[in-house]
Amino acid sequence: MCGIVGILGSGPAAPLLVDALKRLEYRGYDSAGVATLEGGHLTRRRAEGKLRNLEERLAAQPLSGRSGIGHTRWATHGAPTERNAHPHATDRVALVHNGIIENFRELRTELEQGGTVFSTDTDTEVIAQLVSRNLEAGMAPADAVKATLDRLEGAFALAILFDGEDDLMIGARRGSPLAIGFSDGEIYFGSDAIALAPFTDRVSYLQDGDWAILTRAGATIYDADGAVVERPVTRALVTSLMVDKGNHRHFMAKEIYEQPEVVGHTLGHYLDFAGGRCAPDAIGGIDFASLDRLSITACGTAYYAGLVAKYWFERFARLPVDIDIASEFRYREQPLTPNGLSIVVSQSGETADTLASLRYAKAEGQKVAAIVNVQESTIARESDFVLPTLAGPEIGVASTKAFSCQLSVLASLAVAAGKARGHLTDVDEERLVRALSEIPRLMSQALRLETQMEALARDLAKVQHILYLGRGTSYPLALEGALKLKEISYIHAEGYAAGELKHGPIALIDENMPVVVIAPYDRIFDKTVSNMQEVAARGGRIILLTDPKGRDAAAIDAVETVILPEMPSTITPLVYTIPIQLLAYHTAVFMGTDVDQPRNLAKSVTVE
Ligand code: F6R
Repeated sequence: MCGIVGILGSGPAAPLLVDALKRLEYRGYDSAGVATLEGGHLTRRRAEGKLRNLEERLAAQPLSGRSGIGHTRWATHGAPTERNAHPHATDRVALVHNGIIENFRELRTELEQGGTVFSTDTDTEVIAQLVSRNLEAGMAPADAVKATLDRLEGAFALAILFDGEDDLMIGARRGSPLAIGFSDGEIYFGSDAIALAPFTDRVSYLQDGDWAILTRAGATIYDADGAVVERPVTRALVTSLMVDKGNHRHFMAKEIYEQPEVVGHTLGHYLDFAGGRCAPDAIGGIDFASLDRLSITACGTAYYAGLVAKYWFERFARLPVDIDIASEFRYREQPLTPNGLSIVVSQSGETADTLASLRYAKAEGQKVAAIVNVQESTIARESDFVLPTLAGPEIGVASTKAFSCQLSVLASLAVAAGKARGHLTDVDEERLVRALSEIPRLMSQALRLETQMEALARDLAKVQHILYLGRGTSYPLALEGALKLKEISYIHAEGYAAGELKHGPIALIDENMPVVVIAPYDRIFDKTVSNMQEVAARGGRIILLTDPKGRDAAAIDAVETVILPEMPSTITPLVYTIPIQLLAYHTAVFMGTDVDQPRNLAKSVTVE
């Protein structure tokens, strides 16, 4: 949701800004821009569309200033044109912004009535104009910014440069993340540690309401009350090497293939494979025995991981689970029981709706456990318990390895909860831990289905609509399969609980409608077969994902079957996700879409 970077450097800043923006492009790619101080004066280069357009612009019109700011945009207010691209500037300041200024209309009207002429349709420009007005009124840069921050409502991370001030950059965060990076004689702002990875691993994360004045000599940080504060400088966990495509054509392909390894790491963190036990230390102080309810909140793919976990927690731990989409939960005013625990699930740890849900739960007196991939994120920092997914940086906008790592943590927690609540015996625990330990091996086998999934994708790329069906934990996987396909191939796809088919969607079935059925051979397999019969009877084209027993038992004509290994039903969501992801990936490749950066999307959704 927009990436920002700022550098007070010792050499030309523009190439470094572009390097950092490449790592931030996953946050938005509608336009990009930089501003540097050239001979003391603010100079901008901006371009619509992908970062490469900005690179071409810079190649034709290079910049050499040592101080600069950069931005990659996910458009909220104003079309994704060059005119609306950041940095936004007056002749006194240039700034980059991630977030939304909710009261920009009032501010703009006020400024226009005072004679200010705006040159963009964005909410951000009001910030540049307000700071300029304050400077013109004689305020020093820091006072001009502080007075402006006091007028803003909404979410923002900002980095601001001033004309004629080569050793000054001011940043602020409210809602959206912002980090300061330190290295010898240079200092930086960045939306996250990934952006700063090529420059430094010494990073300090601003807290909500903080603002900071940077010079090459260091940073002075103020909190929301204006007090000077120290924020710890930590060693960031990401390195620049970790954000590389390796031999793969797309980050998404690389991330799909990383799953056996990162899922293995994640499970190994929460489980003692050798002893066949959960590792209680990994779940910190969560006391599952005393809970009477769990509420899980997340968005998108992370929500589907939570939906799978509902089945696990209810079955293994007999623990009732409320699961909500975060954008609904935050406004629903759900009463939360005093003995409940809230779990929020988020890859980025910055998703605005999930963060708001966390804050709602805390305000209601609940403890919150966060399953997050970015351990320095706001959600991680505001939670009572942090349960990391060890997926490493996920760059492809469509979530793959983060999803399977979220499932890994949730499955481990559900087993731990079942044990703590006395619903699982030692023998049950050992059986489940052994089953979970098989996942990396089975995922590697599932990856061998790639050629078949590619062949199926060749046909799917020709259709306009696809249905995904599943029962039990395969139902959330059907939802996830449909989401994955539509977001990267732009083919319309819907996921349904197989039993719901006859309550409406069956009307859509004809010979032009492929139906992907996720049906491992389990205790409800026969029910799903009945639903497949209903599709087959109406000429629908079925792609069945199952195992050898399921293939033999299905006995339906006109089915293309994808055979996975037999495995305990608990772990099927983790393994079946591989062919589901491969199908979406290859369909998108055949469609010729931008797989890693699909249109209209961004990786980190820090606005509502
Ligand atoms: C889909 C996808 C999104 C995210 C959602 C939540 O592939 O990636 O649906 O899952 O935006 O993001 P996080 O997990 O960062 O909170």
